[in-house]
Amino acid sequence: MTDVKNLEELFQAKVDGELKIEPKDWMPDGYRKNLVRQISQHAHSEVVGMLPEGNWITRAPNLRRKAILLAKIQDEAGHGLYLYSAVETLGTTREKTVDDLLGGKAKYSSIFNYPTLTWADIGAVGWLVDGAAIMNQVMLCRTSYGPYARAMVRICKEESFHQRQGYEIMSVLSKGTPEQREMAQDALNRWWWPSLMMFGPSDANSPHSAQSMKWKIKRQSNDELRQTFIDRTVQQAEVIGLKVPDPKLKWNESTQHYDSGEIDWTEFNNVVAGNGPCNKERLAARNKAHDDGAWVREAAMAYAAKKAKRKAA
Ligand code: 3HC
Repeated sequence: MTDVKNLEELFQAKVDGELKIEPKDWMPDGYRKNLVRQISQHAHSEVVGMLPEGNWITRAPNLRRKAILLAKIQDEAGHGLYLYSAVETLGTTREKTVDDLLGGKAKYSSIFNYPTLTWADIGAVGWLVDGAAIMNQVMLCRTSYGPYARAMVRICKEESFHQRQGYEIMSVLSKGTPEQREMAQDALNRWWWPSLMMFGPSDANSPHSAQSMKWKIKRQSNDELRQTFIDRTVQQAEVIGLKVPDPKLKWNESTQHYDSGEIDWTEFNNVVAGNGPCNKERLAARNKAHDDGAWVREAAMAYAAKKAKRKAA
């Protein structure tokens, strides 16, 4: 009888050999649990992430911007459904995963608990939030769990459009009237630090990173991805004449990276704990949408049951 130790060794050898783990493969309970945790939170982030942007659909400055914003938000819904399906391959039902979010039990990315106050925020969200998400999701295209890696390949293709359209909004505003330039700078000031928090706590304070790296769920650490994001985005800000709100930001010739100021981890922990500016509003909106959509789920389930009965007859 192959004991668990042997199974674990075979599993790790597969991961180390860059073979994908598939749903029917044996996997340690911890690996499964870690993936359900991360992928479900990723899915929740995609779905809740629609809310801050949805706030501006009716107020987009023109038809072109409205069409782009609508397309982006619809993409996010699709990303959420893709990732909820990936969670189901691990044996967790969709209902349980969604109930965990609606009941306030499950996390989603802290970034979506900030308000979108002006149209420039829609630019900052696309440029910074989707920009940070891409940094992380391109890395996840190489994650060891097959369904998650494949979902990421599809999602990253759409994510790059999200980032480009956001950067274009900021670029147009920064070349506009003084009020438009100020609106773009104000949005950068408010979204910069919360975007850095998307990469998670520092490596020293990340309880999951070591194991996630060993299982190749994560291929780069939180701090590594955050640094790449800073190095790239600071230059993008300079190109459009905006200033990153970090007085300690300085190019370090010897490391070839930007040195930057310290993230406010108290704010991070507060928002993650549910005390951010919009946490309650986001959860209430998700619960209302779920309740309002009950009839669609019931109709779809009734249709499926009737079809199955006809087939069985
Ligand atoms: N917001 C909320 N919770 C966060 C967080 C954040 N910004 N960063 C970390 N956390 C949580 C983790 O979930 C974990 O809590 P848990 O044990 O209850 O799950 C805890 O803080 C410790 O963090 P770790 O770094 O140890 O956790 P991970 O190894 O899971 O790393 C992560 C955190 C890098 C966010 C990782 O979970 C990940 O890569 N997730 C998938 C990508 C993702 O979710 N991106 C966020 C947004 S998606 C998006 O923006 C979509 C775009 O289209 C708009």
